[in-house]
Amino acid sequence: MCGIIGIIGDKPVTQRLLGGLKRLEYRGYDSAGIAVIETDATGAKLSRRRAEGKIHNLEERLKQSPVDGILGIAHTRWATHGQANETNAHPHFAGRVAVVHNGIIENFMALRAELQEKREFVTQTDTEVVAHLIDDAMKSGLSAQEAFTKTLKRLEGAFAICVIIDGIDEHLFVARRGSPLAIGIGEGENFVGSDAIALNTLSNDIIYLEEGDWAVLKTDNIQIFNADDKPVTRETVRVSGSMAAAEKGNYRHFMLKEINEQAETVSHTLTHYVDAFHMRVKSPEQLQVPELDFSAVQRLSLMACGTAFYAASVAKYWFEQLAKLPVDLDIASELRYRQPVLAKDTLALAVSQSGETADTLAALRHCQKLGLKTAALINVSTSTMARIVDFSLPLNAGPEIGVASTKAFTSQLTALLALAISAGVQRGHISPKAEHELVTALTQVPRQITQALALEPQIEELALELSKSRNAFYLGRGVHYPLAMEGALKLKEISYIQAEGYAAGELKHGPIALIEEGIPVIGIAPLDALFDKTISNLEEVATRGAKILLITDAQGAKKAENLKGERLICPPTHLHTAPIIYAIPIQLLAYHTAIHLGTDVDQPRNLAKSVTVE
Ligand code: AGP
Repeated sequence: MCGIIGIIGDKPVTQRLLGGLKRLEYRGYDSAGIAVIETDATGAKLSRRRAEGKIHNLEERLKQSPVDGILGIAHTRWATHGQANETNAHPHFAGRVAVVHNGIIENFMALRAELQEKREFVTQTDTEVVAHLIDDAMKSGLSAQEAFTKTLKRLEGAFAICVIIDGIDEHLFVARRGSPLAIGIGEGENFVGSDAIALNTLSNDIIYLEEGDWAVLKTDNIQIFNADDKPVTRETVRVSGSMAAAEKGNYRHFMLKEINEQAETVSHTLTHYVDAFHMRVKSPEQLQVPELDFSAVQRLSLMACGTAFYAASVAKYWFEQLAKLPVDLDIASELRYRQPVLAKDTLALAVSQSGETADTLAALRHCQKLGLKTAALINVSTSTMARIVDFSLPLNAGPEIGVASTKAFTSQLTALLALAISAGVQRGHISPKAEHELVTALTQVPRQITQALALEPQIEELALELSKSRNAFYLGRGVHYPLAMEGALKLKEISYIQAEGYAAGELKHGPIALIEEGIPVIGIAPLDALFDKTISNLEEVATRGAKILLITDAQGAKKAENLKGERLICPPTHLHTAPIIYAIPIQLLAYHTAIHLGTDVDQPRNLAKSVTVE
């Protein structure tokens, strides 16, 4: 994940900016840079130094050619649009403006096309367009602040932005939309960082910007505005010195932090698998896994446990629908006992957050004994799974601390959908036009996750009712059937309520006998081809006294207006990306139910983060 740090004050900033970048190294990156407004006898000027690779390379660059000043920004970049090299490293300049950015600007190509005539672009990044928009607005006569806010209104996507402007050396402009930003309060100076960890030695008095906020930092003043440009006051939190507390930020639990950072983490998974510049999936060569040749694969064997298994279950639909690739799907602990008949042209793909799950390792080793090529989609690149497979595929979701898996799940879905599209392209079932449409839909997911996260206050209320029940059902059809099972697992493992996820059409074959007055039934159904059938299943249980909660979109809610019960309205999504966004409300529902019950959300009873025993 990219990292941002900025300082405005009355003392040299370069060394402290470098210190902030080092504290952000845990997020992963492949280049780094710094920009400062240098002031000397000849006046002020904007200077920058950037380097590919580790921060050490940037330090060497600064030793050879020092820059310093009392206002500066710095960035660790996780290659998004454009290669991981110095040219594409942040900060990006345009005229008088320097920008660092984290996240995805979805509409950057349209904005770039608008400016192409009068502005010269030097990179393939989405970030550069932000600098040009601000500089262009100032050239047309707007003040720096007006140019900044006008630009924010033009941008679509999930991002965090930090800007300094030559000649405006008493202002540091920042904005948060989908990617977190924290402000640190100092004495005669103020700071901004991607999280409290970046600010750890600079300030313990932290203001966490809220969704849509932007702010102007001066040396002795911080003005914060909401998305409607109204001045607001945000709470100042005293963060204890420990890094652990800083890592949780202003969240009560790691699980809640990880739920809320999914726009950012899905962005980072996305940028590994898709080329948003051309709206295409990256080829195996671009992914540096030439073995990922789906045209040579006749069958895919997916194996995983728990939440990862539900992600793999969704992926089975995608690989078969988009790539016409037959998929065997196994709970990893069952695979070797099933004695599957798997030909050598089968690719065995394990899905695992930790890369250490014993059952999944055992299933992989069984496939290796059968002579199959093996791969693993993992979040920990140094794990055992990474070492034993023929090739591994990264999740890039960052460390997942909460035992209940959340951000890993949405990153698994994101990566698996991109891989299913790639398989469809390689096997000749997806045209360039269809690929462009699917990848465009994928790049809209971070923003849609941000919109789904806004359901949290309503979910907190609904969770109070759910917390009074001892049983619950989750129902879904198609790709939302595995989502129903994941929703039930989330509720079970952190609230200890007995919950079952079922294919909605299966209820009448027995489980409907369990329906009685007041039992909660959560239906997961965007308005798609299976919507009507799911609604009629919900009506069947509603007539028998079930308390319905329908998770749908606005069109679905309207169409099912006669169905009794509550609604959670998700943003409109693409058919294939819906499961990624619909994971958000089911995660929040489980979290807030557990909060009402007072269970240990981050370390639920009997559970371990990684099950390394069979
Ligand atoms: C999910 O919330 C659980 N913590 C558990 O089911 C987990 O998904 C499963 O143990 C698989 O772990 P892995 O992804 O690290 O292999």
